[in-house]
Amino acid sequence: MDTKYSTPLPGSLVDQHGRRISYLRLSLTDRCNLRCFYCNTCADYTFIPHQRILTYEECLQLIGLASRLGLSKVRLTGGEPLVRRDCTRFVERVLEQYPEVDLRMTTNGTLLAPEARRFRAAGLQRVNVSLDTLDRAKFQRITGRDYYSRVRRGIDACLEEGIQVKVNVVALKGINDQELPDFLRMALDNPVDVRFIEFMPVGHCSAWSTSVFWPAEDILRKAGEITVLEPDHAPGEHSGPARMYRLPEGRGRLGLISPMSDHFCARCNRFRITADGRLRTCLFSDREYSLRPLLRSPKHGPEAVLKVLQAAGRKKPFGSQLLEQFAQADDSFCRRDMNAIGG
Ligand code: 5AD
Ligand code: SF4
Repeated sequence: MDTKYSTPLPGSLVDQHGRRISYLRLSLTDRCNLRCFYCNTCADYTFIPHQRILTYEECLQLIGLASRLGLSKVRLTGGEPLVRRDCTRFVERVLEQYPEVDLRMTTNGTLLAPEARRFRAAGLQRVNVSLDTLDRAKFQRITGRDYYSRVRRGIDACLEEGIQVKVNVVALKGINDQELPDFLRMALDNPVDVRFIEFMPVGHCSAWSTSVFWPAEDILRKAGEITVLEPDHAPGEHSGPARMYRLPEGRGRLGLISPMSDHFCARCNRFRITADGRLRTCLFSDREYSLRPLLRSPKHGPEAVLKVLQAAGRKKPFGSQLLEQFAQADDSFCRRDMNAIGG
């Protein structure tokens, strides 16, 4: 294993496999204003009731505790984080209270444009925008809403403010594979990294099937037929699981994230906390640690949460082993839906 990931640092959390956990994905809500067919696939999904959702105060507490353990990169996710009331104020508070935290957000971009200026003023430097098509009618078919132009406005508003944008595209064969040249053009003309993510069978009734699965290697081969690609691997601690490629004269890059075909478990540095305050140490494991009762209990409080984070961190599993077991059982990998986990 790369020693970079196994060197313990003061205040750091190193698991049984020598992985240093430095990245927290915190879901602010499981609600969303889109209905992507691969995400909210079940008509019977019931949103988490309001009283079970972590308050912003509790989220701030958790970010503080995580940062004490060396989780210095924090990504706000959803559902769609911006559908939660006063989300922008929360972003401002996080950055005021924890200026040392490298705060980011993953959003569907539909509500982004009006917030871009305040985000910039607060010091938010990076957002990931999910966008699976560059075609308005197809966007409506995929997401159930005619909000394509809003997303494009959101991306443009961030770029105008100098906020770095990455575009996440779920790779869907037969749905967006014909658009590869258009996405490459987007990365060529704009300073945005366009990253294709392999479709994962997550959730209790996933729309995943082999017929829509578009493997990263195929995307890479097809992209290589369209343009010259220059590998740009800079495996820094925060570079994430994406393999990046430069395009000649391109302002942005092409990225490939292949959770299915190339497990990056050995480099995984993440914790996820769901909107109802459950810690998940691996996307593919349904083992959850409930932090909310501890936070809310006068008897326990923050120090107890810290202990759970440490103990759970040490036991963080190797997801690829779990994947193999699930594959044999011919099942989706985790029962919790993606909108409840935050991607
Ligand atoms: N497989 C791959 N990516 C997914 N996302 C949501 N569901 C899936 C899935 N089943 C993506 C979203 C967003 C990120 C949070 O996760 O499109 O980019
Ligand atoms: Fe909303 Fe993201 Fe799920 Fe689409 S994938 S419905 S944008 S949470």
